[in-house]
Amino acid sequence: MPRLAPDYHGHYKPPRMSYLRSCLPILALILVIAFGLSSYSLLSHFRSPAVKQQIGWQAWDVVEMSSSKSQGGVLSAEGDETQGVTNGTGFVPSIPLEKWDPLALHTTGLTEIAVKPCYFPPYLFPSYCAPKTTPELDKAKGKWVVVDRDLNLRTGLWYLNVYYRRTRRLDADLITDLRIVTEPPNDEQSAELKEGGWIKSDGDVHNGVWPTQPEKRIWYKTRRQEAWRDDWKLRERDWGSDGQTYEDFITEIDILYGDDDPFFGFERIKGGKLTPAKEGKWESVDVVFRRGNPVAPRATVPTFHADGTFKIMQIADLHYSVGTGKCRDTDKQPCVGDEDTAAWLAEALDAEQPDLVVFSGDQLNGQSTSYDTRSVLAKFAKPVIDRKIPWAAVFGNHDSEIVEDRDQHMRALQRMPYSLSRAGPKAVDGVGNYYIKLHSSDGSNMHIFTLYFLDSHAYQKKALPWRKADYDYIKASQLDWYRNVSASIKPIARPFRPDGADDLGHIWRRHSPARLRADGSSSGQTLAKPNAMMWFHIPLPEAYADADVAGFDAEALDMGVQLDGQGNSKHNSGFFYNAIKASFEVDEDKSEIKVLSHGHCHNTDRCRRIDGVWMCFDGGSSFSGYGQLGFDRRVRVYRISNYGEKIETYKRLSQGDIIDEQILVGDGAAEGWGESQ
Ligand SMILES: *[C@@H]1O[C@H](CO)[C@@H](O)[C@H](O)[C@H]1NC(C)=O
Ligand SMILES: *[C@@H]1O[C@H](CO)[C@@H](O)[C@H](O)[C@H]1NC(C)=O
Repeated sequence: MPRLAPDYHGHYKPPRMSYLRSCLPILALILVIAFGLSSYSLLSHFRSPAVKQQIGWQAWDVVEMSSSKSQGGVLSAEGDETQGVTNGTGFVPSIPLEKWDPLALHTTGLTEIAVKPCYFPPYLFPSYCAPKTTPELDKAKGKWVVVDRDLNLRTGLWYLNVYYRRTRRLDADLITDLRIVTEPPNDEQSAELKEGGWIKSDGDVHNGVWPTQPEKRIWYKTRRQEAWRDDWKLRERDWGSDGQTYEDFITEIDILYGDDDPFFGFERIKGGKLTPAKEGKWESVDVVFRRGNPVAPRATVPTFHADGTFKIMQIADLHYSVGTGKCRDTDKQPCVGDEDTAAWLAEALDAEQPDLVVFSGDQLNGQSTSYDTRSVLAKFAKPVIDRKIPWAAVFGNHDSEIVEDRDQHMRALQRMPYSLSRAGPKAVDGVGNYYIKLHSSDGSNMHIFTLYFLDSHAYQKKALPWRKADYDYIKASQLDWYRNVSASIKPIARPFRPDGADDLGHIWRRHSPARLRADGSSSGQTLAKPNAMMWFHIPLPEAYADADVAGFDAEALDMGVQLDGQGNSKHNSGFFYNAIKASFEVDEDKSEIKVLSHGHCHNTDRCRRIDGVWMCFDGGSSFSGYGQLGFDRRVRVYRISNYGEKIETYKRLSQGDIIDEQILVGDGAAEGWGESQ
């Protein structure tokens, strides 16, 4: 069974109690001083409106970079928010200069960097924790912005943060390069740093690291903006009007934990790891930065192949961590959790070459090992992204267990290359209720298959503090949402026949003969909504009901195993009978959705038809997730053919075997669709 969350919610800062206890008296004193300082600072900020006006040029506003329209979404999915980022042609909304938001693109550069320790979390006492400044410096270079990721998160005694100043002023020098240098630099380094015009930042990046580490400083290099403009005269029009990209300048800084690649667009600071990993104690810590405004390659929704096929691979329950993760319940030797998982997934992707990959939740391990979301997100989809395969993801119960909420998590997913993931409408419960319409590749570009994705949430509120939290359930607004979307899907003439099959001159003709002719002469076709599938992490209570039986020998429609207990919520909100079974292909006939596919239960991989709808599990795909000795890690493949009429499935094991081939829908599938028993 998937494990319940530890009693550990919301906060990613690990306990520091043992350190704290030893210096309590000092802390108390500091607390008093800090309170005084903060109060003073707060008061002085609101002293008079004039003070505010003076810094008004740094206040939040929205800068329309271009009047041209946003390119809009690539998905025909509801609630497709614009990402605020378009490839040079759209608008780039500016964000507050003083807010650290590494997922946002900035049209402003950095002017100064410093590292500063603090006995308190900087968000509690921002002005006390930040490096010293004066109003003049704030005006000239921008205010200190805290990079709200603790350099000492698992390595040190107190909080240690990187700060930078960011400005919109055109007369300020902007940072173009960063490196890390061990103190004191040797003669050769000194000469090089001097010659290159490098500037040493304030603050040791190992302040408070325990056991102590050699002092290291961040050095940075700046450049006049005018010089940059002179170099690139042609670009002058770019300034402020046409999607300025600042490709030379560093526009953002982030902290990366672990040895994996940084998040899209970021690179590691030069000069070696800030703090290398220490086996059994901590994962490595590094400063990463982004130059300019790189935009992730966007996925276009793949179309069916000309031969009417489409292949989807589901990857379940990766349970990745910062660092390499730990192998669990496997006799694989040697075994490095996340790395060996990525390696076998790469093999599976090469063998299957799917058109789309669906991550069905619990990409993150949660608990205490995926303590920095972005560091883990940067790597979980790597084998898929490397192969330029479009992918979509839903959340599991572990995904937002530690850091950040699902909105932030989804923002990150959307900014990754080839991602088709969407947040979905705000009014609907959960994050990640969306759908993707798959089209035919012929000239008619007909919508012939629908993929739905739903957030099955995590845990219900505990009734009593000492009770275990039960899994959450699909909410009423989600029932509504699905019914509404399904009602909006236009029926097509099925089975679909691609355009051009019978025309002359190989010119695709639009809108015929795929649609029914008015006189109904189109033979053998009926009007109905395209077939659909839906993914969400936690199965419905109905997934544990008896299988349909079919055929002469009344064979149960069920293949695969269930080695876990029931993984569903105890509460049944009626999603199956009031939404899935109440939204039809046409009239009151077959349900639009033919297959529900889940993760969550790593030792359950069965695919069972229940009251006419298939409910399939993937089984665990990851060595980092719990499993069972002798039960191979696996992925589930869905092979759709005949332009969406036929759905088959099978599982590919980590050893390469293919097992349990089943025809779910279409030619060769069991009859008796939609009849209750
Ligand atoms: C914009 O798109 C073009 C063509 O796809 C690409 O070459 C270019 O790098 C993109 N620009 C950015 C800023 O991503
Ligand atoms: C579904 O449609 C109804 C009627 O149009 C509307 O009132 C409701 O807000 C919609 N619900 C959702 C979740 O989209």
